[in-house]
Amino acid sequence: MEKSWSDIGLVDSLKDPPLREITVQGKPVALSYKDGQFGAILGVCTHVGGPLGKGKLEGDYIVCPWHYWQFHRTTGSAQPGYEDKVSQYELKIENNHLFINTVPITKGHKSVHPPHLLARDVKREEGPIRVVGISTTIMDSKNPRYSTSDKLLEVAINHAKNELGAQTMFIRLNDLKFRACEGFYSKSAFACTWPCSITQMDETDQLTQVYEALIHWADVVIVATPIRWGAASSLYHKMIERMNCVQNQITINNKVLIQNKVASFIITGGQDNVQDVAGHMLGFFSEIGFVFPPFPFIAHTRGWDAEDMENNIAYVAESDDLKNGAKDLVRRSIDMAKIVLQQHLSQEEIVKAGRKAQHLTINEEL
Ligand code: FES
Repeated sequence: MEKSWSDIGLVDSLKDPPLREITVQGKPVALSYKDGQFGAILGVCTHVGGPLGKGKLEGDYIVCPWHYWQFHRTTGSAQPGYEDKVSQYELKIENNHLFINTVPITKGHKSVHPPHLLARDVKREEGPIRVVGISTTIMDSKNPRYSTSDKLLEVAINHAKNELGAQTMFIRLNDLKFRACEGFYSKSAFACTWPCSITQMDETDQLTQVYEALIHWADVVIVATPIRWGAASSLYHKMIERMNCVQNQITINNKVLIQNKVASFIITGGQDNVQDVAGHMLGFFSEIGFVFPPFPFIAHTRGWDAEDMENNIAYVAESDDLKNGAKDLVRRSIDMAKIVLQQHLSQEEIVKAGRKAQHLTINEEL
């Protein structure tokens, strides 16, 4: 194809910063300057379209700002060991101006990367109702203590297994090593991927177990939390921040990962604020697709001025009312799961009113 030169600007004005994004015929280009040489490659990462011109230079490689893939700043080739490549552009200097040939001299290539296991289609396997309990209390696991929320969750899960014929799973977040959400969504809605960007980058991250249970396995989730300073536990918040990627799929792809599933909650604390904690949990779990049984939480506190925590533990440990409440909560949740599975309340697509997102096609850009 015939060359087509376009004037980018004065050479001296383009040396600093050493990496920038320019637009050439409507396409973003990552223009770099290092060791007296300019480089120009397409500014669209082959992964999920991150803006390479807004990344950073490490040696001769441009590091994508979204998930840190690297591309050679002049050839566009991915770092050694990877086959991906973005288009490379020819440059020339005339009369102290930098020109770019808008016809790429080499084309890009997106290689096929095997998808993460979590990315498989969500399909309910045949079988009895499946209930997962997620305990979010924090303690020194070598020196465990009595946790009122954890114990009531145990009662509920054991009842589901032994009396209600459900398959069950119990996850203690305290046992899992997982990273806090690092705010990929704050870079761009498209940088917040499903499966979670951290899950895909870090195979040691153990929140995979929670995603697997919530997205693929369970019909019912019961989340138990203590009240800490009037809110759910910090581990609970650490977990739900990592669920941004689940909600974001609805926003950017109209893809609802959680359908026909029921959530309910166990909330306990020495002091009060149950309704606030429950309101938050209900709001969050509704945002990612769960529905709820009638009376979707049980709770216990002894009130604002109760500081004698040892008596609180004794109260819960001996309370048949609370244990029966936990059993009845899981029964209501299972009953509701049977209804939603029979009625099939799912929706393949939900257009989120008021939330807009541009769609991005990477292959066209390469
Ligand atoms: S590393 Fe570039 S978009 Fe993910």
